Amino acid sequence: MNALKSYTEFIDFELGKMNFPNSPVELYDPLRYFMTLGGKRIRPILTLLGNEMFGGSKQTAIPQALSMEVFHNFSLIHDDIMDAAPVRRKQPTVHEKWNPNIAILSGDVLLIKAYQLLSESSPEILPEVLNLFNTTAVEVCEGQQMDMNFESRHDVTISEYIEMIRLKTSVLLGASLKMGALVARASEENQQYIYDFGQNIGIAFQIQDDILDLYADPDKFGKQVGGDVIANKKTLLYLTAVSKVTLEQKEILKQLHNEQDIGLKVKRTRELFDHLQVRQACKQMMHNYYDTAMNSLEKIAINDKHKATLIALAEFLIQRDN
Ligand code: IPE
Ligand code: IPE
Ligand code: MG
Ligand code: MG
Ligand code: MG
Repeated sequence: MNALKSYTEFIDFELGKMNFPNSPVELYDPLRYFMTLGGKRIRPILTLLGNEMFGGSKQTAIPQALSMEVFHNFSLIHDDIMDAAPVRRKQPTVHEKWNPNIAILSGDVLLIKAYQLLSESSPEILPEVLNLFNTTAVEVCEGQQMDMNFESRHDVTISEYIEMIRLKTSVLLGASLKMGALVARASEENQQYIYDFGQNIGIAFQIQDDILDLYADPDKFGKQVGGDVIANKKTLLYLTAVSKVTLEQKEILKQLHNEQDIGLKVKRTRELFDHLQVRQACKQMMHNYYDTAMNSLEKIAINDKHKATLIALAEFLIQRDN
């Protein structure tokens, strides 16, 4: 999506203005490294779009937009520790390149930086800005804890999974859009509708993330293919497989859970999922959430040009390959 490219570049340029000190280098080098690895910059783009749709200009929500991206990067550095992920954005993760303590602390600085950026909001909107951000940030932590709890559970339901991904991923997409709308002083109804749109598209986005985790082209993906299988994550792929297995296949899944040879574990799991046509079923569910997002979009009082932009962005989010 071409329009997206100019927004990504704009965000990268604005992020580049953020000045981190040099000392201690062990604290600041890792976060500089991570912030400049690239990334799709989806959340700040959502904030800018949410702002422009309700009358803002590209300049009016920059600190809030950057804050959402900085928070996201904090959550990724910590997520990679929790998920024992070796690569992100095609490069070694911070805890791998340095160590977990460094990853914890440089992540912490980013979280604080996110608050510094929000504190640039005008006094009239600051309480609402903080309230939205705080609620969202706590929800992300709740989702992350559920995600980890599920690793050792065998009875996770699809509705529990949807709630987990709503919290760990979707609320941040909804809040990013709403943040832009809030800065533009959109009505409460419109703020809610745009949040609902973001949340539903966020669920579709995380389902695509789960699919990519096992089925992405390794040259494009930037993360370890099969990472979720290795960590025994209860992804939609896994839960869909469980709903389709025979008793015999269920035994195979159980054995794979404890398989120590990770190459074999990923290969066998993918073969079983392929056989059960799990990927197609997940795509279907992803499209259902996409359709629900489109229903939320209908309700937002913005012109058709802006709706078309949100639709193009939504399509990108579910068709992406990294
Ligand atoms: C990754 O988010 C974490 C999820 C919530 C799935 P992105 O896919 O937006 O990651 P970057 O920022 O583009 O690297
Ligand atoms: C990440 O979910 C959600 C947050 C970082 C809050 P995942 O663990 O699926 O994200 P990736 O796949 O590592 O990017
Ligand atoms: Mg992860
Ligand atoms: Mg995770
Ligand atoms: Mg993932």
